[in-house]
Amino acid sequence: MIIAPSLLAADHAEFGKGAIRATQAGADWLHLDIMDGHFVPNISFGPQVVKAIRPLVKNIFFDVHLMCSKPEILLEPFAKAGANQMIIHVELGERVEPLIWKLRQLGIKVGLAVNPPTAIAEVEPFLDKIDMLLVMTVNPGFGGQSFIHECLPKIQQADEWRREKKLKYRLEVDGGINNDTVAECARAGADTFVAGTSLFGQRSLKTAIAKMRKIAHANDPALADLKLNLS
Ligand code: DX5
Ligand code: ZN
Repeated sequence: MIIAPSLLAADHAEFGKGAIRATQAGADWLHLDIMDGHFVPNISFGPQVVKAIRPLVKNIFFDVHLMCSKPEILLEPFAKAGANQMIIHVELGERVEPLIWKLRQLGIKVGLAVNPPTAIAEVEPFLDKIDMLLVMTVNPGFGGQSFIHECLPKIQQADEWRREKKLKYRLEVDGGINNDTVAECARAGADTFVAGTSLFGQRSLKTAIAKMRKIAHANDPALADLKLNLS
């Protein structure tokens, strides 16, 4: 189980403090939402911000979500800035494959995201080439939106493929994740949870992360299978 707070929900005047706060609160990863004002109707921050944060939180895994029309121009700058993984969108079509190769060349882990209106079948050809699949549970662009329940079958399908094809990609969800929806996603097979508003909005981020982790863990289907086998 990975809990990845999204820095988008932190105070934008103090990204460094937000990153330190998340790390000290027990976050497994830090999720960094990069929006270009073209692929999505909003702008967030770029490689220079990530580079400035990196020395403040040396060891935490940076999960960089590129909601950008031209990720080609951003891979090297984010690699230099300290990204561990970059997520590109399957909606980029024929450019996905070369982007995956470029990330591999750079030694960066590869995530592939699928938006709510896009069919899950679009990601199937890439499943043996990626480290993580991100099933978006809101239309990307803004934090604080409501979880789209229609995305749950896509998570189930992605988890089924993982078992059938004996692959090991992580299965991440992002958008509207709170203590209710985290349980639904975990039951559907997700193992990596991005949460912005529901975590950064709490007075104690540490308590909020611990609680979300506990709920995700309690709803892990592998654990349910184990209990069944033991009883
Ligand atoms: C959506 C972003 C998300 C967002 C999640 O465009 O990709 O990572 O920050 O925020 P919450 O958890 O507030 O929905
Ligand atoms: Zn994101």
